[in-house]
Amino acid sequence: MKGVVLAGGTGSRLFPLTKITNKHLLPIYDKPMIYYPIQTLVDAGIKEILVVTGGRNSGDFLRLLANGKEFGLKHLDYTYQEGEGGIADALALAEHFADGSSICVVLGDNIIEGTIREAVDDFKNQKSGAKILLKEVVDAERFGVAEMRDGRIVGIEEKPKKPKSNYAVTGIYMYDETVFEKVRVLVPSGRGELEITDVNNAYIREGSMTYAHLNGWWTDAGTFESLLRAANLVAGTRAQADAERVAAVVPGV
Ligand code: DAU
Repeated sequence: MKGVVLAGGTGSRLFPLTKITNKHLLPIYDKPMIYYPIQTLVDAGIKEILVVTGGRNSGDFLRLLANGKEFGLKHLDYTYQEGEGGIADALALAEHFADGSSICVVLGDNIIEGTIREAVDDFKNQKSGAKILLKEVVDAERFGVAEMRDGRIVGIEEKPKKPKSNYAVTGIYMYDETVFEKVRVLVPSGRGELEITDVNNAYIREGSMTYAHLNGWWTDAGTFESLLRAANLVAGTRAQADAERVAAVVPGV
């Protein structure tokens, strides 16, 4: 399976932080935001990765990430999204890179505590269709929200005023090679974007969508509140890991 990180868009919700740089280059505690989704893919055993960038600062991604040596990669692929036509518009640019393989897509502002390795391995066995990762949240109206019936997802609504569940669809998606056909027939939503939720609903209608629950914390980082929360969550996890390391070396601490 190949990996795709979507880091296009203008980051307008973080203006003026994003006036002179790309949102995904902003710091989350001690690393640029884009490091986290790349690490998520690498930790899942994915070695071929495409970064979709956009905007005026796309060259900075190349200077920052180069060939991905810091992540133990031999090579990174890059492509450029013109404008900000939506998540599915950015995903369409990955067709050439995917070249018939299944893909794991991670949104560039999604940061997780744990690993998606098990879900990725399960999807490899699934052979076709799609798989998404859900997380129970208290502010579901900010996200794509899964409607569940008898343990199955029967539909997803994008930022509903009255969410039908507390299960947010996280920005981690696994797709078979038919995803690009599904993107080609999308029409722009009310906000003028090609929506990833419409892609996911196409798989649900087809009966080929599975899901898993994401373990550990999850956050996006596209608003001032979530940007701060992401930094605090990473710092907390890091401090806990350091304390556990010390306790292992110095018994009784
Ligand atoms: O974080 C999970 C949520 O992400 C999902 O629950 C929603 O269903 C999904 O639509 C998305 O919602 P947002 O409105 O928060 O997405 P946003 O516009 O902030 O874009 C998220 C990332 O996607 C962004 O960091 C980069 C990438 N992107 C976005 C757009 C609009 C692109 O690469 N190109 C784009 O044109």
